[in-house]
Amino acid sequence: MLPGQPPLYAGSRRADMALAGLACCELIILDQLAFQTPKVSKLLPRGVHMPGLPGSVYGEALSRVLWKPTERIALGVGEHEATSDRRVDSAGSGAGPALQVRSLTKAFGERVAYEKVSFEVERGEVFGFLGPNGAGKTTMVRTLATLISPTSGTATVAGFELTPANSLAIRQRIALAPETPGLYERLSVRDNLACFAELYEVADPAQRISQVLEAVGLSDRAREVCGALSKGLRQRVSLARALLGSPEIVFLDEPTSGLDPSATREVHSLIVGLRQQGVTVFLTTHRLEEAERLCDRVGILRTRLLGVGRPEELRRRLFSQRLRLRILRPLDDPGGLFGSLGGIKAWVALDGSTYELEVTDTKAVAPELVRALVAEGADVVSVEELRRSLEDVYMQLMQEESGR
Ligand SMILES: Nc1ncnc2c1ncn2[C@@H]1O[C@H](COP(=O)(O)OP(=O)(O)OP(=O)(O)O)[C@@H](O)[C@H]1O
Ligand SMILES: [Mg+2]
Repeated sequence: MLPGQPPLYAGSRRADMALAGLACCELIILDQLAFQTPKVSKLLPRGVHMPGLPGSVYGEALSRVLWKPTERIALGVGEHEATSDRRVDSAGSGAGPALQVRSLTKAFGERVAYEKVSFEVERGEVFGFLGPNGAGKTTMVRTLATLISPTSGTATVAGFELTPANSLAIRQRIALAPETPGLYERLSVRDNLACFAELYEVADPAQRISQVLEAVGLSDRAREVCGALSKGLRQRVSLARALLGSPEIVFLDEPTSGLDPSATREVHSLIVGLRQQGVTVFLTTHRLEEAERLCDRVGILRTRLLGVGRPEELRRRLFSQRLRLRILRPLDDPGGLFGSLGGIKAWVALDGSTYELEVTDTKAVAPELVRALVAEGADVVSVEELRRSLEDVYMQLMQEESGR
């Protein structure tokens, strides 16, 4: 239950009750108390009036009462009809970018979570979304996963305009592994996945569950109740759940937070595997080396989007290119030699035989430099490109933003 959401998304709340927030099909798990609540029982079997549901309907399958309505749930305001799916392109699924975000803003009252954010994510890309605590990353994920509505701006997800009417169509094509896994604590790993497989209407659920358990390395823990699992293992169940429905786009909100190094590595190889299958991955993380290693492109957010692009592009945009030269003996006239070469913008001697050069293009300058040094009779020990890390890029953008 997400109290206080805009009424336009009332239909989506149904799925939020099912924890992952993405299961807007026609199965709802209610506990005994919910059935005794007049508001619910009065509406059964025709529908559930979500805004009035009490907190007792929290999805924990205490009594495991499963209710599957025979007709589409009538929410009273008719806002959740899937008949109004509006594709942005007529070519169908697979065409156009996975995500297209245009000047999107989300404010909670006075607090602006993110503002005028625009970016695109191509299909099959791993896109990293980075930013400090409170930057708006999770809020963006929740928006694009149709859990909350934006305040202004537009977006498309999997080719569909992000509108309440399209939320079902979008949810059928995406998956979300949220910051907190949100699993049925008293059910086993397999039963958890079975519940969600039914919600997602997975064909051949037994086989798919075995596949995803294998993919996250949990086959041997399938019978254990989720409440007894460690944080990292729960995270893996959450990932397994995200993979159940063979989604086009997977949103992973800090999937490696709190994981040990080998579990982290397993998650990384899962992400690589998703990429190889052509699945688009939208990954939020605080681990910059993780983003550097896995992501085709990254966006750096601090309420506003400070930068977006390939890590290499961002490096080039923000920093000059540099070479470090080591030779055996100091040059007689370094200024003369460096000045005679095009492409060296500035240089500094670090010690007698080490120089740092700011250049226009490392790949063009390095070979030319070596040739000139050899011609001068210098003994070259090494010429090395000084690469800035994604962390340098991140820190630079944060500093610039703070100085604004
Ligand atoms: N439901 C809400 N009501 C009010 N404010 C909210 C709500 N959800 C998020 N916020 C605020 O919006 C801002 C962005 O939060 P968000 O969770 O998106 O940040 P984040 O980038 O995911 O941070 P972290 O790295 O800590 O996970 C924060 O100031 C947060 O307190
Ligand atoms: Mg977050």
